[in-house]
Amino acid sequence: MARRALVAGNWKMNGSRDSNASLIHDIVLDVRKYPDIDVLVCPPAIYLESVGRQLEGSPVQLGGQNLCEQEKPGAFTGEIHGGMLRDVGCSHVIVGHSERRALYGEGDDRVAAKFRTAQICGLIPILCVGESLAERENGQTESVLARQLQAVLDRCGIEAFRRAVIAYEPVWAIGTGRTATPEQAQQAHAFLRDRLARSDAKIASSVRILYGGSVKAENAGALFGCPDVDGGLIGGASLKSVEFMAICAAAQ
Ligand code: G3P
Repeated sequence: MARRALVAGNWKMNGSRDSNASLIHDIVLDVRKYPDIDVLVCPPAIYLESVGRQLEGSPVQLGGQNLCEQEKPGAFTGEIHGGMLRDVGCSHVIVGHSERRALYGEGDDRVAAKFRTAQICGLIPILCVGESLAERENGQTESVLARQLQAVLDRCGIEAFRRAVIAYEPVWAIGTGRTATPEQAQQAHAFLRDRLARSDAKIASSVRILYGGSVKAENAGALFGCPDVDGGLIGGASLKSVEFMAICAAAQ
């Protein structure tokens, strides 16, 4: 099945009103050159509304970097409800990013709860999965990916993947400049897709699986050329308009 490529920028904890305005200005100007792909930006939550306003009228979509797993708003100081993300114009939300798993104790069950709440709130979750260097070196990559994926399948079922995106982000490639090879990426993506196909081949074939981990303009083409790589979840390179748009060009 032909899947429409998605290039998503995860800004992480970066940005300012001035730098955001300049970055989005450049992206909005350039994005129309790439009508055959979807482009999404995920700023820090505090900037979502202002970036969303600047994106109005452009095909670029808006996403959150996280959400509270609570299905209803309430007394959860500091948290952000998925309905609030929708309210400021988000269509997607990243869940289970390895930095949240490692630094903020988000385990598989909590990630699965966030995934479910995102969909209850009308958002498309981008489920991040990936192994550490030690896990890869110990031959545990597929068991880690299977465990992380199964936690969501157990809680939400295969039907939930009709309106979801998966991002394979090997932890050892994030922010390191050590990108997975196209072969490594393809192997992991095919494994994830095969796992979903055990439950429903059609849904497995339709789910977009993005690669994330030191994607740059010079390596994006080879990665996106893999049959099971449907685009990228871009960190550092998404903060530089020329680089981010070059990655979009590679996905077109
Ligand atoms: O979510 C994307 C991010 O983890 C990848 O970061 O800087 O390696 O592209 P980076």
